[in-house]
Amino acid sequence: MQYSPLTSTLQEIEADAVVVAIGPDNPLTGLAADLDNVVGGALKRLYDAGEVTGKRLELVPLFAPHGVNAPIVLCVGTGPEESIDAAAAYQVAGSAARYLASRQRNRVAFLFPGSWPSRFATNLVSGIHTGCVGQDLYRRDRARFPFEAVQLSGMASSAIHEGQIVGEAINLARRLVNEPPSAIFPETFAAQAAAVAADCGIDVEVWDEQRLEKERCRALLAVARGSTKPPRLLKLTYQGNADSDPMLALVGKGVTFDSGGLSLKPSDSMKTMKCDMAGAATVVAALQAIARLKLPINVMGLAGLVENMPGGASYKLGDVLTARSGKTIEIHNTDAEGRLVLADVLDVAVEQGASKIVDLATLTGACVVALGTDVVGAMTNNQPWCENVLSCAKETGESVWQLPMFSHFGEEIRGDVADIKNVGAGRWGGAITAAKLLEEFVGDVPWVHLDIAGPSFLEKPKPWQDGGGTGVMVRTLVELARRGI
Ligand code: BES
Ligand code: MN
Ligand code: ZN
Repeated sequence: MQYSPLTSTLQEIEADAVVVAIGPDNPLTGLAADLDNVVGGALKRLYDAGEVTGKRLELVPLFAPHGVNAPIVLCVGTGPEESIDAAAAYQVAGSAARYLASRQRNRVAFLFPGSWPSRFATNLVSGIHTGCVGQDLYRRDRARFPFEAVQLSGMASSAIHEGQIVGEAINLARRLVNEPPSAIFPETFAAQAAAVAADCGIDVEVWDEQRLEKERCRALLAVARGSTKPPRLLKLTYQGNADSDPMLALVGKGVTFDSGGLSLKPSDSMKTMKCDMAGAATVVAALQAIARLKLPINVMGLAGLVENMPGGASYKLGDVLTARSGKTIEIHNTDAEGRLVLADVLDVAVEQGASKIVDLATLTGACVVALGTDVVGAMTNNQPWCENVLSCAKETGESVWQLPMFSHFGEEIRGDVADIKNVGAGRWGGAITAAKLLEEFVGDVPWVHLDIAGPSFLEKPKPWQDGGGTGVMVRTLVELARRGI
């Protein structure tokens, strides 16, 4: 997709579709007034009849309006101007794009009010980019047709460039999640990540089983044992600064399919478990965007890639694993596998000299029970670092809410046979007991755990995005890297 600033007036545009953003206040001023003039007062008549109101995400298509050189003008409601924030910008742009991408439309012009803050520009562009791409990877008759050329009014070309890079990264994360588990498993995930990295100047290292053995990643290896697919550990290094400068580590859970293992999931819960590598996909995508934006920071991306399957060689309930750090973990449920994988990968991050860590994981159903499907759970061992991450999420319009890490949650995972157990005593507070296990492996390094089990995958579409992977947290991680650590 090609993006360029729009310089022509509404009458001069030649396109397959034109989008005009319209708010409910002063309905016939600014862009709406221009449109109304061009179409000979038709917009005013629609307002008067209550057909167009400017309510947020309202979509009203005007077909072949007289005076405009396009077969369709789509009015998209923005909602009240003072309530427009980053999330609204992403959604408004995405909804219009998703509507128009339902059939082939190559050249689309977007007219957004010049009065909108420029910091929304990136979100508008990335919203368009994700709105017009769907999950129809294997359909003969496509459901979405991405545009070829997009023109945007009232936007600096630097913001357009940035929005496109971020949008492409979000779509990369979405695609990796949407691919079936027969296509994306540890080896193929690592190979695709390596190709992405080679393309944007990121160093790649992939640890195979032998290397994982040598590195004593026995918790990760145990999870992988039930599967015929061998595990991998992916290490991406982006150097945007001097060697000696601090390093941000982004760590992702990459369970390419989670059947639950011997603690087998019921079919309904297993149905979407190809999404269990969303954390790893987010890490790869964020690194791609950070490298392409040439942000001045050092970032290491780590992903633990395994498939969790039942089989003759599966790890079992009652097994005791010795994690890479030397701590022992007693297995009470093989479906609590993500924390075991992350235990070893977090230990690698610490050993590699991470100054700050953020991990991303579709870790617990309990987090979805606590916060719903649209909110990411944050847990930390360091409040200032967490506030930094929360503030980046706020800036980019992603919903993140912090959960407490009181020490009594840690008591729940004390082991009788081993140092720790891999699940809490009961099921209450499950998102936090899982985080408490991770905390055991980060030492003193400031760390934030983001449980993305709910928001990383849409079972039903949103107006601004098709179902499937969402690429949640890519924008927040890019903002975090932009601010530096
Ligand atoms: N991958 C799942 C968590 C999950 C649930 C992700 C729903 C996305 C949507 C994780 O490995 C898991 O199975 N967690 C268990 C933990 C339990 C056994 C302590 C869960 O949440 O039920
Ligand atoms: Mn599981
Ligand atoms: Zn899992």
